[in-house]
Amino acid sequence: MGQTSNEGAVAAAANPPLFKPLRLRGLVLRNRIAISPMCMYSAPDSVATDFHLAHYTRFALGGAGLVMIEATAVVPEGRITHGDLGLWSDDQIAPLARVIAACKVQGAAVGVQLVHSGRKAARQRPWHGNGPMGEADAARGELPWPIASASAIPFGEGYLTPEALTPEGIGAMRRAFAAAAERAVRAGADLVEIHAAHGFLLHSFMSPATNTRDDAYNGDFAARHRFAAEVAADVRAAIPDDMPLFARISMHDAAEPARPFGETVELAGLLGRNGVDVIDCSSGGIGGHSASTSGKATALGFQLPDTARVRAGSGMKTMAVGLITEAELADAAIRDGRTDLVAIGRETLWNPNWPHHARAALSGPCYADWPEQYGWWLERREQLLEKIRASSG
Ligand SMILES: Cc1cc2nc3c(=O)[nH]c(=O)nc-3n(C[C@H](O)[C@H](O)[C@H](O)COP(=O)(O)O)c2cc1C
Repeated sequence: MGQTSNEGAVAAAANPPLFKPLRLRGLVLRNRIAISPMCMYSAPDSVATDFHLAHYTRFALGGAGLVMIEATAVVPEGRITHGDLGLWSDDQIAPLARVIAACKVQGAAVGVQLVHSGRKAARQRPWHGNGPMGEADAARGELPWPIASASAIPFGEGYLTPEALTPEGIGAMRRAFAAAAERAVRAGADLVEIHAAHGFLLHSFMSPATNTRDDAYNGDFAARHRFAAEVAADVRAAIPDDMPLFARISMHDAAEPARPFGETVELAGLLGRNGVDVIDCSSGGIGGHSASTSGKATALGFQLPDTARVRAGSGMKTMAVGLITEAELADAAIRDGRTDLVAIGRETLWNPNWPHHARAALSGPCYADWPEQYGWWLERREQLLEKIRASSG
């Protein structure tokens, strides 16, 4: 028997699109909510610690479908700060594996974002100034290191001048991304994300503001995006066929000369043809920090319209990010087909239970989604509170 329209509406309310599972190759995410990658700058020797275990497990307990581990450097020179995670050595696998396993026990899938931060490497932790390293950092024993980018153009005044990567250097970076991806797989990751945004190494090749090379990696669209496409293909070859691959891109450079938006859509397609499954749609970073963390955001969910353009124009699956703080906004974005996933960053630092609370806001509390150690009690708490409210009202 067919559903009446009212039954359909009731079913939709009980099953918000935000909580519909998503299959990506061999992986099924329990819902459409990802924790956006967020560097914690707290990894001595670039190795995960008890802090990372506690920090990431909170999000898995909080109900996220996907926990994306912060930008993890593929070579030591690619770290942003002395506190970044790394996966350039087999010794870094076991500590990260412990974090990943703890999240997976709670039903979350785990991704690892792989990065080389290019000319934005060798900087201070945000709370030490977020700028180039100086005397105060040296006093802490933290010295800068030589950095590399597409061209020898510093990030800004007072910053280190990078060396332009040689063709051999490009080959070495491709191998480093692939080797780190393979280590992420060995650490138990469910997927890998290539960081090709925010002015970091791969993005620096794409933007005419940072790429003045005179070789095969500069010129037309294909040349400027060649490195990212090569890294995508190399990483795809290094991970299992049934494992999804994400790539974070900057939809806008936020620098002059600006890339036309058509190139962003073309980039999404190019990455798709090189084995990427999901385009994680961020922006900015070439001329400053990323758009959403540098105060350039003007509205909640401000990157959703362009994410929808990337999705419609390229046919790729997308992850949207940037001030998606409200359950209704996130749910509507999935329902309307503007994106396939939403990534939530700072809001989940504020409230790691954001996914459970979003479910409650959309369709009432769903205690079966909570860890059973909490859900049993919370359900009874709810009943008790309702009784008290009824008797006092
Ligand atoms: C503390 C912090 C660390 C971040 N680190 C990363 C990172 O490692 N990789 C990345 O791609 N973006 C990083 N970002 C950007 C976030 O992933 C996200 O795109 C941004 O915060 C906007 O989302 P939000 O408004 O939900 O916070 C970071 C943001 C914050 C606040």
